[in-house]
Amino acid sequence: MISVSNRLQKTEEYYFSKKLREVAQLKKAGKPIINLGIGSPDLAPPQEVVDELVKATTQHGAYQYQAYKGLDELRQAMCGFYGNQYAVQIDKENEVLPLMGSKEGISLISMAFLNEGDQVLVPNPGYPTYQAATKLLNAELISYDLTEGNAWHPDLEALQKLDLAKVKLMWINYPNMPTGQAADRVKLQELIHFAKANKILLVNDNPYSMVLTDDKFSIFQLEGAKEVCLELNSLSKSYNLAGFRVGFLVGHSEFISAVLKVKSNMDSGMFFPIQKAATKALELKNDWFDAQNTVYKKRRAILWEMCETLNLSFDKSAVGLFVWGKVNSSQSAKELADELLYKRNVFVTPGDVFGSNGSNYLRFSLCVSEEELSICKERISKLETV
Ligand SMILES: Cc1ncc(COP(=O)(O)O)c(C=O)c1O
Repeated sequence: MISVSNRLQKTEEYYFSKKLREVAQLKKAGKPIINLGIGSPDLAPPQEVVDELVKATTQHGAYQYQAYKGLDELRQAMCGFYGNQYAVQIDKENEVLPLMGSKEGISLISMAFLNEGDQVLVPNPGYPTYQAATKLLNAELISYDLTEGNAWHPDLEALQKLDLAKVKLMWINYPNMPTGQAADRVKLQELIHFAKANKILLVNDNPYSMVLTDDKFSIFQLEGAKEVCLELNSLSKSYNLAGFRVGFLVGHSEFISAVLKVKSNMDSGMFFPIQKAATKALELKNDWFDAQNTVYKKRRAILWEMCETLNLSFDKSAVGLFVWGKVNSSQSAKELADELLYKRNVFVTPGDVFGSNGSNYLRFSLCVSEEELSICKERISKLETV
């Protein structure tokens, strides 16, 4: 047999890639499973965006290779979005880079900045891809704690006690997934000072800023961020375009050109109609987000009731696409998730998928219709009778 690389031997298959296969098998076997596990928006994308996509498919040159940096008008729209939503000004020529989703950006940034043996600060709990990208590059993972006691923000005192000599990169993600914690600007401002003092590239992964948030956050609203920060953004959740694969990276021109250097060697520019349609999306007015959030609020109310039935505690001020519920019984979150899946046909994500600090929690997605959520609620209310 031809063996896979050493780096791959250290990398597990992505949890959802494995688990969704099992869910699909259960469904095939006739189980009416409702999936509250994954944050893939089920609502339709904006009609204007779909129309633009179709229209652009007949445009001359639509099927040719596209520039690595993306269309001028797309980068312009990305800058417009930053100006309108966050009051952050960025230069379309060299401070923004379109990406095929922010997930791609996590790997590209890691490849652009990490040498073997460099250390990377990764949140626990956090999006698993930060870890995977670090391991695939033979960089060293230093997990840092996020706890409810510290409002799911890094504990700066604890970070300062670490030997930081080899730390090159730190991942943060506000608004936070999976906890739903909104950004605390004071804490993150201190973190920027910390990053600067220790020459650490601080990357905020920011795909949830438009979902159920009153106060739209970007790391670039904070002082000195341009010197040490990068920010990933995404159209996946903001415009129900997860399968479209459009995200972008914002930051200092030197950081952007380093990432572009990697990207230009890994892939080509996105399909022209996708870029045209993404431009249309980014130009939409805020009533688009208001309409989405009205739906999500109704769904969230049902999920909150479900959490109460399950005796889970949760934070009503949390934001984003998930409800993060804390288990308050002797049963572990994993056991409860299994019970819900195998006995109630409701798939939810056990929090330990995101790291050990998530092990008392369950994550519920808002990407399911009110009708289906009501069915889940009904199934769950009968849980104790099993
Ligand atoms: C925190 C976080 N970052 C990044 C992503 C990836 O988003 P994209 O679709 O832009 O690649 C996700 C997707 O679920 C996420 O939860």
